[in-house]
Amino acid sequence: VWEDIEPGEVDPILSISDVWKADADPKKLNLGVGAYRTEEGKPLVLNVVRKAEQAVVSDPGTNKEYLPMTGNAEFCQLSRELAFGKSSTPVQENRVVTVQTLSGTGALRLGAEFLAAHYPCKLVYLSDPSWPSHLTIFNKVGLQVRYYRYFHAESKGLDFQGLISDLCSAPQGSVVVLHNCAHNPTGCDPTLQQWRAILEIVVQRQLLPFFDSAYQGFASGDLDEDAASLRMFSAAPGMELLLAQSYAKNMGLYGERVGALSVQCLSKRVGSRIEGQLKALIRPMYSNPPIHGAAIAAKILRDKDLYEEWKVELAGMAGRIKAMRQALYEELQRRKAPGDWSFILRQIGMFSYTGLTREQCEIMTRKHHVYLTMEGRISMAGLSASRAGYLAEAIVDAIKT
Ligand code: LMR
Repeated sequence: VWEDIEPGEVDPILSISDVWKADADPKKLNLGVGAYRTEEGKPLVLNVVRKAEQAVVSDPGTNKEYLPMTGNAEFCQLSRELAFGKSSTPVQENRVVTVQTLSGTGALRLGAEFLAAHYPCKLVYLSDPSWPSHLTIFNKVGLQVRYYRYFHAESKGLDFQGLISDLCSAPQGSVVVLHNCAHNPTGCDPTLQQWRAILEIVVQRQLLPFFDSAYQGFASGDLDEDAASLRMFSAAPGMELLLAQSYAKNMGLYGERVGALSVQCLSKRVGSRIEGQLKALIRPMYSNPPIHGAAIAAKILRDKDLYEEWKVELAGMAGRIKAMRQALYEELQRRKAPGDWSFILRQIGMFSYTGLTREQCEIMTRKHHVYLTMEGRISMAGLSASRAGYLAEAIVDAIKT
């Protein structure tokens, strides 16, 4: 029956790791997937995660019962407060509903399913470019995707005018997906003043913001600073919005799949109905979320000492990424790489969007065993000081070939 089945689309990001694993060359460098690596190129389990995990497994009260469909209630509350802020009015007024999800992807998918079923406008605006899964997630639920301009190829910065003009012409009620910080893949974020201008248009056009928060604390090293855009929008009068949160990067809980979906609405009464509809979506999809990762995250968010320790480790990761930007920039300068590469220092977060063409990316991979996405995105978090020179050499060679 499946004789003529098509092989299925290859994922543009996760497939890179498969090819990288199969490469036997000792010089190989995986800058494809956005996953933090130590200076030695190894995955990092945060100390604070090890401590919290130990506490969770040794707690005699821990069991393997099902969680409610909405997940670990304490985790949901603490996640909401982490993102919106403890003193947020919508949070205090109990009109932000939060459910535990299978990391950020699960939150986006659940949010998309909710919108497809319960939101009248079927148009979703994504930044051009955006994380590739955004397109497939919204398409899968039958929503129509359009793009707003975002990246200015020449300056390798934000195309603010393009962004504003495209959002101004978005039909009233359209959903607009916004990366609250550390935009993936470009590493270009609006300034606070630019966020204010975006908010004004969102209010004027009655657009529905869907924030994707995959890097809170990872961009600037400060949890509050990275939540500033979301909090600004959330505080606007009459604002309704969605938020997808992931703890993959900021707690390094990648494979534990820990995340949350929040929906901000106008009253507690509406919120409890929304929660009911989210449960109705969750039950036939995966019934209820897994316990382990969320218990670790909740422990870190609840325990004052662990929380402080987490902030230090988080700032350490953000700092190492910044140092890698500096190192790569200097190595490119040293090799007199043609063009202006100072954008590497201006872009923030996990990624740098290099502007390398597909052909140049192919040279990087085939000839130099440097793995990156074919749109020229490199994960700065995967680089180490000892490999920055090698990467710069590969870039210079790819440009000159
Ligand atoms: C990435 O963009 O590399 C990460 O968010 C990992 C993923 O799932 O794509």
